[in-house]
Amino acid sequence: MRKKLLLGNWKMNKTRPEAKEFAKGCGEMVEYAVSHGIDVGVAPTFVCLCPVLKHAPKELIVAAQNVNEHDHGAYTGEISIPMLKEIGIGWVILGHSERREYNGETSEACNLKIKALLANDMVPVYCCGESLGTFEEGKTKPFVEEQIRVGLADLKPEEAEKVVIAYEPIWAIGTGKSATKEIAEETIAHIRGVLASMFGAPVAEKIRILYGGSVKPGNIAEYMSMPDIDGALVGGASLELDSYKGLIEGLVG
Ligand code: 13P
Repeated sequence: MRKKLLLGNWKMNKTRPEAKEFAKGCGEMVEYAVSHGIDVGVAPTFVCLCPVLKHAPKELIVAAQNVNEHDHGAYTGEISIPMLKEIGIGWVILGHSERREYNGETSEACNLKIKALLANDMVPVYCCGESLGTFEEGKTKPFVEEQIRVGLADLKPEEAEKVVIAYEPIWAIGTGKSATKEIAEETIAHIRGVLASMFGAPVAEKIRILYGGSVKPGNIAEYMSMPDIDGALVGGASLELDSYKGLIEGLVG
């Protein structure tokens, strides 16, 4: 049985005091989620990682939004895995469509980062998803398949099972135009099939695959009713405590 997972991607939002306020206020809801066997977490900006770690219950997963694959060196503006590990971060989001679009992050680059994270016993949350044009052309499946095959290339099955995948159609991100649960399930089931062909069916059955794109307290339960969807990667609706609580309630069902 795959454990359900809710991960809030805060993107470039919240100052440290704002992040601290959220962290201090989320205790009860995190406890509620954990008591229902659900993993919950947030991905703050780098400067807010420490305040969240300090003030949130230890059960809240705290993820970074990016990392560099090199341990150290002349990479201005970058953050390394040892730096994240030292402050107690164990999870990192990679390959988000915004980073692919604005920062030129490729699936090949994600592959290097994923390997480096796994070598450090950290959890990569690898994002994939197609543009509106690709969706309308009916080419979602081959497009996403390529992202998965390249991003997870050369992993051993026992490594692959530790990765979390997030399917986020770009046309549904921040637009209020969420994919229907049937569309999300169809693509996510395809991703699971690709994972089975790469790593074997038993491993594919263990990998958690999230849906992301305009997930709200009012629609999260629909996605969770689908067999291959194991949780959600949520942007806007993860920023406020009330809404985050609503997401957890929807996930618990
Ligand atoms: P929204 O939930 O704001 O659409 O963002 C989704 C997302 O990009 C999460 O990574």
